[in-house]
Amino acid sequence: MNSEDLYQAVFRRKSVRNYDSSTLSLETLQEIENSILKLTPLYPDIKTEFRIVPGELIKTRMMKSSPHYLLAFSEKKEGHRVNVGFMLQQMDLYLSGRGVGTCWQGIPQPKKEALATSSLDYQILLTMGKPQEALHRGSIQEFRRKSLREITDIPDVEELLEPVRLAPSSTNSQPWYITGSAELMHFYCRQPNRLKALFVGKFNQIDMGIALYHLNLSAEHFGKKVEFFKDDVAAQSGPSGYYYVESVRLEG
Ligand SMILES: Cc1cc2nc3c(=O)[nH]c(=O)nc-3n(C[C@H](O)[C@H](O)[C@H](O)COP(=O)(O)O)c2cc1C
Repeated sequence: MNSEDLYQAVFRRKSVRNYDSSTLSLETLQEIENSILKLTPLYPDIKTEFRIVPGELIKTRMMKSSPHYLLAFSEKKEGHRVNVGFMLQQMDLYLSGRGVGTCWQGIPQPKKEALATSSLDYQILLTMGKPQEALHRGSIQEFRRKSLREITDIPDVEELLEPVRLAPSSTNSQPWYITGSAELMHFYCRQPNRLKALFVGKFNQIDMGIALYHLNLSAEHFGKKVEFFKDDVAAQSGPSGYYYVESVRLEG
């Protein structure tokens, strides 16, 4: 699946929470393993590992179970959660485009046998299986999302930022705000209040990585070259109530 296929998947994907209890074929699981090897990191200096484990190795904690889970592990370093979001969103889109149901989930927890599959720190998982509900959305109207004006003040970037607007996020919080220009964008994350910080604080950083990956795909679709970097000035001057995450230079 190429990046244009992943871009197209953005406009149809949805979280799937109801699964057939049968397992995916060995061939499909092997294809999934192969695409894990091709994941692109946002921050290449952070070590990550991804493991497929069976449903029995997960404590679902009230969530419906799925036959397979894709677990993300990372070393703990500045930006590691944003990096995991950026990488695992490639799998969310790949799986959706490939006909496999999937859902980001922070609530279920791996049992110790699953944690033992990596020496790195467990971060988050994706459910995987044959869907027992619609796999895709039929139209953009089926997405419950903020309007473009609620997530940016940059003029004339509707098409470029549409994939960011449609990105999935924990509790559908859509914590992103983007300032700057069509050529230089600064991504900020809403600072959760103290109570919310306990539940969604770390997931919001994963959300930001997801949004950055959607921008990456959109830029490629529109033939632009993308460079991610930290901008010291932007880091000091975001909208109030938001913290700085990343800047993006777009050329072409
Ligand atoms: C980091 C993260 C954690 C999430 N955790 C859960 C979860 O524990 N349980 C759940 O049912 N959905 C979870 N979700 C799915 C979101 O609720 C879902 O993506 C959002 O409501 C948007 O809906 P959509 O994915 O169908 O577009 C999570 C999503 C993200 C990105």
